Amino acid sequence: MTHVLAAVAWPYANGPRHLGHVAGFGVPSDVFARQQRMAGHDVLMVSGTDEHGTPILVQAEREGVTPQALADRYNRVIAEDLQALGLSYDLFTRTTTRNHYAVVQEMFRTVHRNGYLVERTTMGAVSPSTGRTLPDRYIEGTCPICGFDGARGDQCDNCGNQLDPVDLKNPVSRINGETPQFVESQHFFLDLPALAEAVGAWLETKTGSPSWRPNVLGFSRNLLEEIRPRAITRDIDWGIPVPLPGWEENPTKRLYVWFDAVVGYLSASVEWARRAGDPEAWRPYWSEGARGAYFMGKDNIVFHSLIWPAELAGYDGRGSRGGRPGAFGDLALPSEVVASEFLTMEGRQFSSSRGVVISVRDVLSRYQPDALRYFLSAAGPEAHDTDFTWREFTRRTNDELVAGWGNLVNRTASLIAKNVGSIPEAGDLTDRDRELMATTSGAFGVVGDLVATHRQRQGLSEAMRAVGEVNRYLSETAPWALRTSDPDRMRTVLHVAAQGVSDCRGLLAPYLPHSAQAVHEVMGGTGTVSPMPELREVEDLDGGSPYPVLQTPRGGDGAPGWGSVPVVPGTPVGKPTPVFTKLDEDVVETELERLREEQAGG
Ligand code: MF3
Ligand code: ZN
Repeated sequence: MTHVLAAVAWPYANGPRHLGHVAGFGVPSDVFARQQRMAGHDVLMVSGTDEHGTPILVQAEREGVTPQALADRYNRVIAEDLQALGLSYDLFTRTTTRNHYAVVQEMFRTVHRNGYLVERTTMGAVSPSTGRTLPDRYIEGTCPICGFDGARGDQCDNCGNQLDPVDLKNPVSRINGETPQFVESQHFFLDLPALAEAVGAWLETKTGSPSWRPNVLGFSRNLLEEIRPRAITRDIDWGIPVPLPGWEENPTKRLYVWFDAVVGYLSASVEWARRAGDPEAWRPYWSEGARGAYFMGKDNIVFHSLIWPAELAGYDGRGSRGGRPGAFGDLALPSEVVASEFLTMEGRQFSSSRGVVISVRDVLSRYQPDALRYFLSAAGPEAHDTDFTWREFTRRTNDELVAGWGNLVNRTASLIAKNVGSIPEAGDLTDRDRELMATTSGAFGVVGDLVATHRQRQGLSEAMRAVGEVNRYLSETAPWALRTSDPDRMRTVLHVAAQGVSDCRGLLAPYLPHSAQAVHEVMGGTGTVSPMPELREVEDLDGGSPYPVLQTPRGGDGAPGWGSVPVVPGTPVGKPTPVFTKLDEDVVETELERLREEQAGG
């Protein structure tokens, strides 16, 4: 048994999540966490909404509300959507809790004390007419890198590069159109060069690991080569204050996302432990012997493979300036950075502003969560960009999920209900029976290895191969024809088929937890096999406002292990209701029409 930290990227609370988001961080992290729990590991899966910074401010302005009100609104929307998808967070929280502020500030103080945060003078913008500081995002101009006209002072939305406002060509204030003046502004920089050796040594230990995709490793190594100090404070008024005298009081100096939301993995672990009534319980998930797997979309690789490890190394005192850990003790660097590629939609990039979106909420209001999870697991952007189309979603749902797995469950349960009424005893087993049982029970090793090393697409296709084998077994042995001619043989075949269904249910449970529970019940099982996240209203632990969190009950009765569990003869099986809903052919046209309308309207 290992302690496994499943650290899931923190979505911005600036709008509902679309399929691209949950394809990148959501479903893969949950498949991994569920499989690891079934395999007997002690898993802690944490995340929350990222509620500070430019994306929140910009959207709050657009909606005419305060940043806190905006964050409150979308924190809830996002938590509800992730819950509906069945993502089994041990804690899904937010970055505006007092606990998070305290953990981030402790991180800052220790990294600072260890000498890895250096103060520098940069050129910041002020309004010539008012003399006030202009936050980076209020300045617009031409991108010095790609020439895009609407680049903002902090980043260019066209090429995605982080910018410094002073580098913009023809900078103007978005407030009143005047040309800003640049004056000296103090900021803290993370001294990445002083931490590069520690981070480089850590990265080298990942070479050859099947859990690291070559693109992530290559990308990170390249970044290390031209490493420079990186600003971790900015001129903005919405975020976590810098915990130093003279800074703390300044309303326009705040920490950047990579010294805020990324620290959330630690603060959420601490919050989880405090809520469990055992404030130290987070520690084993952050110690050297633990496995820390981080899940994200590819636009977040640099946060997780470079900046966060450097911050941890700085905290631990592992850089060239030495130092020693603070109150949290020695914190382990990530074991794996698992990044997915991008999901496009009907051949185009997801974009909220252009109406090219399918929100998770929208899909789940019309389709089963496991149908979406199946599509994203079978055809998601695990190792290269992939496309979501309604045609393919419909085809996979109908031809694979319904016709393959759903049909197997349905015909097995129907045959048992009609001919026996409960799971029959097996008589003498034939070679064919034994062969099938070896195939489905043997699949646990294969699928488990694939999921544990983040090759979930292949894992799912192996599990579905087992489903195909049980279907083939039923067709070949044709128990419906044995009812009068050889009832004993019929009972044995139905026993073996029930065992096959049970094994496939286990193999598919990480991917399809809702239907795993339903199949379990169709086959006469009781108790919870797939725990589901609950949305709970909780008090802030340190006197702030109450807020909703997601938490998933651990274990549960009847929780299966990762492996074949013998079915119990005599378990009553009634006439089943289908577990999956077949989609009408006109789904494709209806959905495409809806999309066209949204694009015309948006
Ligand atoms: N909210 C940011 C984004 O979506 C950062 C998420 S990753 C984390 O890009 F590390 F900051 F959590
Ligand atoms: Zn650009």
